[in-house]
Amino acid sequence: MGKFPRFSKHAFIRFLREKVEKILFMGSWPAKLGILVGFQGTILITRYRIRLNKFPSDIPQLKIVFASDFHMGPTTHAKHITQSIDKISDLKPDILLLGGDFVYLKTDYIDSWLKIIAQKLPESMKKYAVLGNHDNHLDAKYISAALEKYGIKMLCNRFEILAPPYDFISLHGLDDWLSGTPDVESAFERQAAIKIVLMHSPSNYLDLQNTEFDLAFCGHTHGGQIAFADGSPLRAGSGPLSRQFNFGLFRLGEKMQKTLIVSKGVGFGSVPFRINSAPEIISCRLTAE
Ligand SMILES: [Fe+2]
Repeated sequence: MGKFPRFSKHAFIRFLREKVEKILFMGSWPAKLGILVGFQGTILITRYRIRLNKFPSDIPQLKIVFASDFHMGPTTHAKHITQSIDKISDLKPDILLLGGDFVYLKTDYIDSWLKIIAQKLPESMKKYAVLGNHDNHLDAKYISAALEKYGIKMLCNRFEILAPPYDFISLHGLDDWLSGTPDVESAFERQAAIKIVLMHSPSNYLDLQNTEFDLAFCGHTHGGQIAFADGSPLRAGSGPLSRQFNFGLFRLGEKMQKTLIVSKGVGFGSVPFRINSAPEIISCRLTAE
């Protein structure tokens, strides 16, 4: 099986589109114009409280912050990224989950993104990440190594049991459905009582149909980025579940025991603005029932 088993038929079109965009966006003028005229928008915080009966009542709540789709590059200004990291810092998460698509069009942008992270977030903050389709198409190896160097633990097809007193919680990261090779077996090799999944795209839910989990976070859709007033996307993101799970909270599974949270993400793709789909960071408190 190739590296991008579900993407190869679109690879040539993507290659051409990216070549054109690199020329079209030269000098990062869309990001500069966007920030100048206010098109990059205000980053909103969406708050959730998830109650789980497996969460011991004598343990304090766990605050998880989830941010995705920074897309640092010619269409997302560094100031916009800095604002998002400031908001993450203000939320003071116990753990920070990062859902991929860190960069857009050029791998090097990861170094600029990490400089902001290093300035704004304490080293002691627990940070975990998976990669998105844009990261995988550029240079997954380089981006993963750069993130790890800054103390961000990569969870693509890997797991982590949290340190006490939260050692009843395990994190399970999946490689991207569209551009990678998700391996549920490796990601769930060891599990704790409460299982939290980190993945890039809602279509990764297709990998999890037969796997028990409590809570999953993903991004990728940008909420459509350009949406109608009711939030429905003009054009859904790539992948079969992007329209169904465009953004928000979904209760899934036979007994509605699985919760999926889809974020609209922080940055911009080939369109440097958003309509009815403001940039978003998720703050989620996990507590006992
Ligand atoms: Fe994506």
